[in-house]
Amino acid sequence: MNMKINDYIEIINENLDNFLPIEYPQTIFKSMKYTVLLPGKRLRPVMCLETCAMLGGEIENAIPTACAIEMLHAQTLIHDDLPCMDNDDYRRGKLTNHKVFGEAIAVLAGDALLTFAPQIITKYSKALTPSTIIRVLNEFFHFAGARGVIAGQVVDIESENILQATNKDTKELEKILEYLHLHKTSDLFQLSMRTGAIIAGAGDEKIEAITDFAKTFGLAFQIADDILDEISTFEQMGKTLGKDKEEGKLTYVSLYGLEGAKCKLSCLFEKCYGIMKKQDIKSEIFNNIIEDILKRTGIKND
Ligand code: IPE
Ligand code: IPE
Ligand code: MG
Ligand code: MG
Ligand code: MG
Repeated sequence: MNMKINDYIEIINENLDNFLPIEYPQTIFKSMKYTVLLPGKRLRPVMCLETCAMLGGEIENAIPTACAIEMLHAQTLIHDDLPCMDNDDYRRGKLTNHKVFGEAIAVLAGDALLTFAPQIITKYSKALTPSTIIRVLNEFFHFAGARGVIAGQVVDIESENILQATNKDTKELEKILEYLHLHKTSDLFQLSMRTGAIIAGAGDEKIEAITDFAKTFGLAFQIADDILDEISTFEQMGKTLGKDKEEGKLTYVSLYGLEGAKCKLSCLFEKCYGIMKKQDIKSEIFNNIIEDILKRTGIKND
């Protein structure tokens, strides 16, 4: 069956709901479920399932992993929004987790999701061999951890106001910026696509190409988020905008301006298309995701 993005989203939402029960003590489960089930774009799980499908795998086998990655993503969002991090009041169009449940429960909900998610993989991946499950878990722990998304978040926080307070030149700053974007954002896309490929039984060469695509896509995606922080609306994004400037974040927009950031974004998506062509990968879903971002950032007309 030729899956459309909404078919994937429906499967993901239904499974996320089923995988997350409300048990005693209810506060923690309610808090976990709150952010996970808010209407995010579900890009990471969609990309996990689509990668699995386009490399000849059964999407059924990747559903627990795709949902676990969305739970991990929700964890990063809950913690990212805390007053000690980005201090945001809105996420996915609603109040942030700590605004509803308080800071202590929000911290714990993030911790709980981080450990709950890999258990979804081990518990429900019935058709995968133990060695495939171990490979998938290894990917999960790597990209979720101190060498993954956490590394990116640390450098993001440490780089606040760096533009005003440094004598580093643009080349040095670009290196830091690329590092933090690659980790805080590309890492979860790498995790999504690499695990989709592993579950499909792809060979090393294919996995390398997929990794290159995911890295490039993630970098572009974060640049788009930085552009939209400047030009979009609360209605479209569901979060308070203009925050990057307020917090003195190091972004492609703060370093190169809006036009410079748009230019970099277009180049990165060209590279993504190049990788797909070289690998003879055809995915209407990936094409649509990229085209949608190009339109939302005003690079292409509707
Ligand atoms: C938000 O990711 C965090 C970034 C990496 C910019 P998304 O824009 O995918 O957020 P949701 O999942 O749709 O809410
Ligand atoms: C967040 O980047 C990336 C992670 C949550 C790991 P941002 O801080 O730019 O994301 P938003 O704008 O709050 O969604
Ligand atoms: Mg942040
Ligand atoms: Mg943030
Ligand atoms: Mg942002």
